[in-house]
Amino acid sequence: MTDVSTSPDQTEVADWDPKNYPGKVTRFPDGMTEIVMGLFGIQSRDEESSIAATDALRELLHAADDRTAPVSFERAHYVDGDGWDNQIFVAYWISTGRYEAWWNSSPVRQWWNALDTDPESPLGYWREVLVTGADRHQYATGSTSPAGPSRFLPLEPSSKFGYWGAYRDRLAASGHDPLASPFEQLPPPVERVTRGKRLRSRLPEGICYIREGQTWDECQPLEREVWETKMEPVIGDWVAALGDHPVDTGCASIRFCREQDVTTGADLERQSQFGFLLSLGHIERAARTNPVHLAVRSTFMDMYDNPKFTPQMNIWVEVHVPTPGSITAEYVNCHPRTGFLPFFDVEELP
Ligand code: HEM
Repeated sequence: MTDVSTSPDQTEVADWDPKNYPGKVTRFPDGMTEIVMGLFGIQSRDEESSIAATDALRELLHAADDRTAPVSFERAHYVDGDGWDNQIFVAYWISTGRYEAWWNSSPVRQWWNALDTDPESPLGYWREVLVTGADRHQYATGSTSPAGPSRFLPLEPSSKFGYWGAYRDRLAASGHDPLASPFEQLPPPVERVTRGKRLRSRLPEGICYIREGQTWDECQPLEREVWETKMEPVIGDWVAALGDHPVDTGCASIRFCREQDVTTGADLERQSQFGFLLSLGHIERAARTNPVHLAVRSTFMDMYDNPKFTPQMNIWVEVHVPTPGSITAEYVNCHPRTGFLPFFDVEELP
């Protein structure tokens, strides 16, 4: 079986001088050995029907006590390929104990256990929860503007930027673990009966989560112009290429989201792409060969190599490659193309 992760193309980007880029990564404080990141989604046939459901979930996150509360949570929104509206909360806990205390608290258990599984209901719910050790997690940025886990983890300088393989090198475990998948390719999608059911996906080892984020609220006009003319239009093409070619790219799920104010749901000048990949090796290969991604990457690098302004945009990435068995993906009354459902076997839950 081919292991794509062991055949990286180490081509350097011409003229890229890492000294020009103020690269930073998060560090786990002493005593913190893992991070728990949960995506909690509400999908609905129309935006209107999800309002009460979204408020109920937000309240469960807001009302948690000191022992159980997430250290941070964010909100995002997108309309999926089947036209369903999706509201997502992205919540972080600093240990499994704290996450489990929240998940097993009675208000949360009552909410999850009571979710409507009537296939005629306009709502579906999902949770994708990752428990990731410090050596299998990275957050990288050139900015100090808080986003994702840098809202609560300190940043420190790093030189692991600007060459193929940088994402991998920033995961300490990659020094001894190929972070590979047992699958050569993502299995072709199948359509299962999923509405009316509670399902848990059986996931193989090596699954990689990548969230790419962009915040442009602090950009000056020149940078905004580069963003609007050279990057923004093609990012959509790159994300579409991942979504349209899951087997070739290894991309099981990609959600292109607008970030929103947690309470009001108002759009923010922030967006994120949430991706689940068969393995880091698979997405490395796609990122290194897709012309659209190469164009976005080189425009970005050029902003630092030939500066015409001081970049203020926060373009950041978060990567998790949890150990086997450390991702829980459950879908309640969701449509068959949600998350991992088309690609891996499922177990039906009571
Ligand atoms: C606005 C959107 C994006 C921008 C501006 C962007 C830009 C970049 C840049 C600048 C790099 C080089 C980083 C470095 O050397 O440290 C890079 C690498 C990479 N990107 Fe993107 N990217 C975007 C979206 C995505 C998405 C949505 C994915 C996949 C879900 C992705 C996957 C990758 C991967 C896997 C690499 C690393 C390849 C390697 O290390 O060999 N990118 N991207």
